[in-house]
Amino acid sequence: MKNMKGEQGFVEFYSQMYGERWPALKQALLSEHQYVAVANPYSNFKFDFTPIQNESIRFEHHIAPNFERPAPTEAGYFNYYLMDAASILAVEALNIEPGNRVVDLCAAPGGKSLLCAYKLKETGLLVSNDRSAARRARIHKIFDEYIPKTKQANHKVTAHDATKWCLYEKSVYDRVLLDAPCSSERHVLEDAKELSLWSVGRTKAIAMTQFAMLASALDIVKVGGRIVYSTCALSKLENDDIIRKLYQKREGRFELKRMEFSFGEPTEFGWQVLPDQSGWGPFYLAIIERIK
Ligand SMILES: C[S@@+](CC[C@H](N)C(=O)[O-])C[C@H]1O[C@@H](n2cnc3c(N)ncnc32)[C@H](O)[C@@H]1O
Repeated sequence: MKNMKGEQGFVEFYSQMYGERWPALKQALLSEHQYVAVANPYSNFKFDFTPIQNESIRFEHHIAPNFERPAPTEAGYFNYYLMDAASILAVEALNIEPGNRVVDLCAAPGGKSLLCAYKLKETGLLVSNDRSAARRARIHKIFDEYIPKTKQANHKVTAHDATKWCLYEKSVYDRVLLDAPCSSERHVLEDAKELSLWSVGRTKAIAMTQFAMLASALDIVKVGGRIVYSTCALSKLENDDIIRKLYQKREGRFELKRMEFSFGEPTEFGWQVLPDQSGWGPFYLAIIERIK
């Protein structure tokens, strides 16, 4: 793994990781993105036809090759939110119940937080956190475009460093979403400059931050509560290896929950959606319940 750098290093690293699957995976990563339109319950928008649905997605939604950009309805709020289907699984995996206290530790631009708000139905508490001020502004914008202000009383936007959250709060949330910053290889592949700057050291450094965030998440979730750890990374160092490290460092404090979805595939500790087989992703998630 030493000294792998730039485009050549990138191809070598992921060819070793994904073997014979890599060429098709690379091609799929470079193909056009697909979206799901999740209907906004506050906009009174209804699809005027029977929408194509995916059984693992419990929000009212439609899947199509292309959509018009979201726009406000007569009710004054945007009609639908466009997302990758795999991202929606992270919110489904949280199993949010009305009344829950939920924190989204790395929330911006806010698509998954918006879906958490739909699940909470104005009850409990939703904290959308992000360290970047510019990106926090996007969370506010999305919430104001999609949810009436009077229905946002249970929503807070905060600016903490997710790696250090456990210094301030412990055992207070029923659900924690950790959609961690990651290598985002799909974007790297699409950008020649990013590709030239890629190095194996980068995925290792990101993995250290991700683990610090997950260790913090385990302290802030209540005993019996649930964490969903997710990334859009292909690098296994940022996916199953993070959960492996949690077993090494926090043994006895958590249990892994397994869920099956209608697209994607199981991994050693979680679930991965890759675009060569499903057309969605890349996306990885693991479900952790705190037991101690
Ligand atoms: C993968 S994106 C989150 C996408 C978001 N969950 C969504 O669905 O729209 C990761 C986010 O983590 C934020 N971030 C990076 N380091 C952070 C830290 N130490 N604490 C809190 N947020 C951080 C970044 O600003 C970025 O917005």
